[in-house]
Amino acid sequence: MILVTGGTGLVGSHLLYKLASEGEKVRAIYRNERKLSNIKNVFSCYTADYMPLYDSIEWLQADILDIPSLTRAFNNIAYVYHCAAFVSFEPDKYHLLRKTNIEGTANMVNLCIAHHVKKLCYVSSIATLGNPENLKEITEETEWNAEANNTIYAITKYGAEIEVWRGSQEGLSVVIVNPGVILGAGIWRYGSGNLFTKAYKGLKYYTAGSIGLVDVEDVVGIMIALIKSNITNERFILVAENWHYKDFLQNLAKALNVKPPEKLASVGLLQIGWRLDWLNHKLFGKRRQLTKNLATSLTQEKRYSHTKIKECIDYNFKPVSKSITEIGALFLKQVQ
Ligand SMILES: NC(=O)c1ccc[n+]([C@@H]2O[C@H](COP(=O)([O-])OP(=O)(O)OC[C@H]3O[C@@H](n4cnc5c(N)ncnc54)[C@H](OP(=O)(O)O)[C@@H]3O)[C@@H](O)[C@H]2O)c1
Repeated sequence: MILVTGGTGLVGSHLLYKLASEGEKVRAIYRNERKLSNIKNVFSCYTADYMPLYDSIEWLQADILDIPSLTRAFNNIAYVYHCAAFVSFEPDKYHLLRKTNIEGTANMVNLCIAHHVKKLCYVSSIATLGNPENLKEITEETEWNAEANNTIYAITKYGAEIEVWRGSQEGLSVVIVNPGVILGAGIWRYGSGNLFTKAYKGLKYYTAGSIGLVDVEDVVGIMIALIKSNITNERFILVAENWHYKDFLQNLAKALNVKPPEKLASVGLLQIGWRLDWLNHKLFGKRRQLTKNLATSLTQEKRYSHTKIKECIDYNFKPVSKSITEIGALFLKQVQ
């Protein structure tokens, strides 16, 4: 049997759909019943007749920080996909980020070892790769730089990867995927799905940097292929294409039939932006949207290589323009 964490999130729910539609026996953990509607929303993007697939999944209430409930989830499990994480760039969420991403992953690794799991697939991020100056392309060999201006999210995803590598040293077979920004339908209020909501509401500015993009169907397809393969103790960058923010945001706007952003947000404007964001948080308790590190990363030009995964499993990524058009159409159908 297969165990999936993070099933109420974007990656986990698309993964559950694919596993269930392939007839796999799957157990998924959830924390809050309210969030199960996310899964139905995602499944309905694939088919109107999704309930038999939804019902084929064994749902168990558990938290990756609660060892007794998590231990119950491991009963009779051979393969594990660990997609659960806390995704935030807000400085005051650092403690919860560390706890969920590092301690939660350590719990998963320990239980995989204790239950003799055959293989663990961990969803990390390109945020855990270094970005040295003058490097043409970032690869799986580009080491993390602890001295760089890393976001708190990146620091905790890196700490989680260390826990997974520790597990591999203790005999657990692991694969790690490092996706770029994941494009997928069905969860529009937060996470990367929120990019469509923000673009739909209208954006005035784009930034000068670039972004690595990948379709969620590619991410979950590759995760399944890696679990089924003989490949072990390796990590893989999952970026279909590297796009400039300008092209990305303008394509999003086109797919959503709204006015595209036409003005470049200069470095100076972003510097003012994150300070105002900080002030708004301090004075009025507003959620941080633009931190100093995030503002910097929005202007950086980074290119990620997908050579390793293409060579290892001979995979062809979906073109990003196709993903944007298809997901944009689903957004308009579900949200309008
Ligand atoms: N989306 C992207 O663009 C992107 C890019 C690169 C890497 N990633 C990585 O991909 C993975 C999945 O991301 P996503 O976009 O699917 O995130 P998401 O939509 O925010 O979902 C996160 C999932 O983790 C669960 N979770 C959080 N804390 C938990 C806990 N203590 N115990 C059990 N479950 C918990 C959430 O459950 P609740 O519903 O109960 O909150 C939810 O199911 C993450 O590891 C993320 O770092 C995402």
